[in-house]
Amino acid sequence: MEFHVITGRPEAVAAGVLVVFHREGATSLQGAAALADRALEGVLSQAVSSGEFKGQYGEVKTTHTYGRLGAGRVVLVGLGKAQDLKLDRVRGAAAAACKAIRRAKEASGAFILEDEVFGDLAVGRLAQAITEGAALGLYDFQKYKTRDIENDHPKELLLVIGPGEPAELEAANLEGVRRSVAIGRCLADATNLARDMVNEPANTMTPTRMWEVATQVAQDWGLECACLDRDEMEAMGMGALLSVAQGSRQPPRFIILRYRGGPEAQGKPHPAFLGKGVTFDSGGISLKPAEKMELMKGDMAGGAAVIGAMRAIGEIKPSINVTGIVPAVENLPSGEASRPGDVLRALSGKTIEVISTDAEGRLILADALAYARREKLSPLVDIATLTGACAIALGPFYTGAFTNNQPLLDRLLKASEEAGERIWPMPMHDDFEELIKSQIADVKNVGGREGGAITAAHFLAGFAEDTPWVHLDIAATSQSETERPDQPKGATGVAVRTLVGLALSLAEG
Ligand code: BES
Ligand code: MN
Ligand code: ZN
Repeated sequence: MEFHVITGRPEAVAAGVLVVFHREGATSLQGAAALADRALEGVLSQAVSSGEFKGQYGEVKTTHTYGRLGAGRVVLVGLGKAQDLKLDRVRGAAAAACKAIRRAKEASGAFILEDEVFGDLAVGRLAQAITEGAALGLYDFQKYKTRDIENDHPKELLLVIGPGEPAELEAANLEGVRRSVAIGRCLADATNLARDMVNEPANTMTPTRMWEVATQVAQDWGLECACLDRDEMEAMGMGALLSVAQGSRQPPRFIILRYRGGPEAQGKPHPAFLGKGVTFDSGGISLKPAEKMELMKGDMAGGAAVIGAMRAIGEIKPSINVTGIVPAVENLPSGEASRPGDVLRALSGKTIEVISTDAEGRLILADALAYARREKLSPLVDIATLTGACAIALGPFYTGAFTNNQPLLDRLLKASEEAGERIWPMPMHDDFEELIKSQIADVKNVGGREGGAITAAHFLAGFAEDTPWVHLDIAATSQSETERPDQPKGATGVAVRTLVGLALSLAEG
């Protein structure tokens, strides 16, 4: 799909569909919706006054224009209640509109950016949100369908800024809005890359395939990609990661993506993003129940988010160095698999008693965190589908966040707010340390059922040590059982946009 920023008037825009918006509870149509309504002799306002169209978030109504407007149809979209009107609502409403355009099998759509219905949201940010919504909302994963393939995606979206301004102001506006569209496009593409990787089944998205994707991303966007193989990890002493990998015939891959932000990056922090890359989590010898086990192909969503974020960072090119680290393994039972009761020596030198081979994410991240510390990377942010307990604690809409450094978490939460990704801070307290003490080793990998997300975070904290660190548990948010405006069922690509936002924020100082 192509995005074009043009100037023009709503009534005159030549497109398959003109998209206009309405806020729930507003008594009359505003802005472009009111203009379109006048041309259509009240069709839209009648739908509103009769109560047929309420303007609820994501609600759509499509009408033909019978030649009364430049566009062939109008899609009226609900923005939800005025007090909730934030960018994420615009993103979702734009996504809903684009799906209506697709249902109508129209090839193009137009959005009016200067519209009083958006209140005081700035035009550039609106353009970015609409672009993101369009590209995220139209995402689908059809590569394994040999029939019933739907190929009716709109080809072109127009983002329209009104004429009537002095020529030089208009030109400056156009340039600025085009930049915003490019950023939105970049973030959506990166999110969709992560979605593709998570939706891909585990028989193709192996650790080696993740490395290939990372290599391709590096080539396309000017990053460096390195990968440690099993022998190199052995020589280094990554005993925790290797124990997870030893039951599978798929060789483990320790993937490193480096972005260098040029001379201006000197003196700034050099963050590392670490993503759990378990390409299939059967539980190992501590085998999971069969029900929903197929979802465990998505246990590499943290790694996919890191690769997606590094791709966007390579495109946006902020003046900061960023390293992405993805320990990638498959967790299967076999005659070679690790056992409950095994004791491992992690890269940091700590010994770990394995209580459950299904608590494998924290094992591979322990070695990744130690590696990042050796490389003097700071701050550290890990992203992992780590615990079912996090889903029990927070439900399906919030990522859990844990930290040893509140200012870092505050900065990340600000980035997530702007990205429209919901993250909730979770408690950490020394009391939890007791729960992961082992009789025979320094630490054990399970702290019991209660507070399972928190004991997992404490386990990781012991490997982040004194480096500023945030842990994001995306077990509940990486895949969705329901369709939402800007995401279909399945992989969400969560955390990509928050990570990019954090990198940009750190680059600014
Ligand atoms: N990958 C799972 C966590 C998970 C569960 C992600 C459901 C997405 C959906 C993780 O490796 C795991 O198995 N965790 C165990 C930990 C337990 C053994 C302490 C869990 O959550 O049950
Ligand atoms: Mn597991
Ligand atoms: Zn797992």
